[in-house]
Amino acid sequence: MTIRTVAPGVVSVGAIDWDRRLFDDLIPLPDGTTYNAFLVKGSEKTALIDAVDTTMEMALMTNLFRAGIDRIDYIIVNHAEQDHSGLIPLLLEMFGGAVVVTNKTCKDLLISLLGIPESRVQVVGDRDTLSLGDRTLEFLVTPWVHWPDTMLTFLREERILFSCDLFGSHLATSDLFLRDETEWRRAAKRYYAEIMMPFRNSIKGYLEKVRGLEPRMICPSHGPLYDDPEVVLTAYDDWVSDDVTNEVVIAYVSMHGSTRSMVEYLVDALIDRGVRVRQFHLPSTDTGDLAMALVDPATIVIAAPTVLFGPHPAAVTAAYLANALKPKARFATVMTSYGWGGKTIETLKGMLGHLKVEFLDPIQAKGYPSPETQDAIRTLADTIRERHAQVAKDWKDSA
Ligand code: FEO
Repeated sequence: MTIRTVAPGVVSVGAIDWDRRLFDDLIPLPDGTTYNAFLVKGSEKTALIDAVDTTMEMALMTNLFRAGIDRIDYIIVNHAEQDHSGLIPLLLEMFGGAVVVTNKTCKDLLISLLGIPESRVQVVGDRDTLSLGDRTLEFLVTPWVHWPDTMLTFLREERILFSCDLFGSHLATSDLFLRDETEWRRAAKRYYAEIMMPFRNSIKGYLEKVRGLEPRMICPSHGPLYDDPEVVLTAYDDWVSDDVTNEVVIAYVSMHGSTRSMVEYLVDALIDRGVRVRQFHLPSTDTGDLAMALVDPATIVIAAPTVLFGPHPAAVTAAYLANALKPKARFATVMTSYGWGGKTIETLKGMLGHLKVEFLDPIQAKGYPSPETQDAIRTLADTIRERHAQVAKDWKDSA
């Protein structure tokens, strides 16, 4: 627990959570996380931008005490999810004059999720401003990064953008600002894949909006802050772009080795054809690693044995994840091995409906892949190579 100066009159009062290993009972956190919160002191008013997770109550209270705060006028809520808003009811009790400032959608969520009294909320719209005296906060309403309520807050005089979840990373670090780019890039890409990727198209527009502000600093509410915003903006340009890599991600599970053999035939055939491959054994794969691997590749293959007439549950989970995260892949297919029949291909294909992909001919083998099945796998590899080459050519021609 410590406070740190971000810029004149701007103090970081958030918390580092070194130990957390699971977020929302859903997202693995191999590197912990931080909940960043910021005090902005104007000549007349003081604002707190975002709060912290309820588990970090002591850290926030200690930091506010150390910052010498005996009054908060505004609590700016960029996003209602509880890791940033959970302590707001307590803050409103402690600071009787404080007003929550947020957009209409976020206000509704704060009322329904946390019972925040409507009378304590001031609603702002896109590009509205709030004066703190010699400091001005400007609000940019940016729905769906990653909830419908999200907004960004820009401190005009210092040109600091407080972006809440957008541009964040689940990374517990003692660095206030990004200093270890290798460590950060992995955590930030993982975070983008797990949380922001489904909203790729919205984010494209927001990147333009953010650049238009010419921020000299971007302060997300998870992970290190950016005193060189181009680092994160350029990374996002790449991740959200429609450009794909000459790469296949194969997510597979195998019970008795037949599906694994199909995967191995495909991997070898792709390598022979100059296509990069990443192979993930689902029962031993971290879902965050798989999500991150889905950001760039042109093709996704799910391979699974047929169990009780349908796909192995591990493949169902992977298909559900890929469908929900909506990566930019252009092609997908399914491979299965079965003993006496089933609907594995139809089931998995039906689960990928959100992907804007061409579904390549699936492959199924009765038991171990026969020579005919091995030929079909090599034909699939030929198709993938051809499709990737065409996509690369189209991308180059459009540049
Ligand atoms: Fe960090 Fe969507 O909460």
